[in-house]
Amino acid sequence: MYSEKVLDHFQNPRNVGEIENPDGVGQAGNPKCGDIMKIYLRVENDVITDIRFKTFGCASAIASSSMATELVKGKTVEEAWNLTNKAVAEALDGLPPVKMHCSVLAEEAIHAAINNYRRNRGLPVWEEESHD
Ligand code: FES
Ligand code: FES
Repeated sequence: MYSEKVLDHFQNPRNVGEIENPDGVGQAGNPKCGDIMKIYLRVENDVITDIRFKTFGCASAIASSSMATELVKGKTVEEAWNLTNKAVAEALDGLPPVKMHCSVLAEEAIHAAINNYRRNRGLPVWEEESHD
């Protein structure tokens, strides 16, 4: 049911933990299952130089969080904002259809952290697109 990459990122998740005094922090909850993910960002010159996550969720949510942090590390804030849950799922060689919503958690938590960063800097927040 799960790809090798999903199992790898679930068993050895990358970038787990917290950042002290983060430049941005955000959380997302999944209304479908009650799972929660929190993201911490370090941003230098508009580039995400460090990112950590904590996820209370299923294997797909943890693997998606891990992959998403790898994909946005070293990217600009805008590039990170444009990372879609579909791209995260593709990077994991796919998620079972009933588990696609788990990858939305990662996208939304990153968005929340980026908007927290923008608010901290006095910038207008970016608009969330809806998923269905
Ligand atoms: Fe919560 Fe998926 S239902 S872990
Ligand atoms: Fe809820 Fe995976 S995040 S089932």
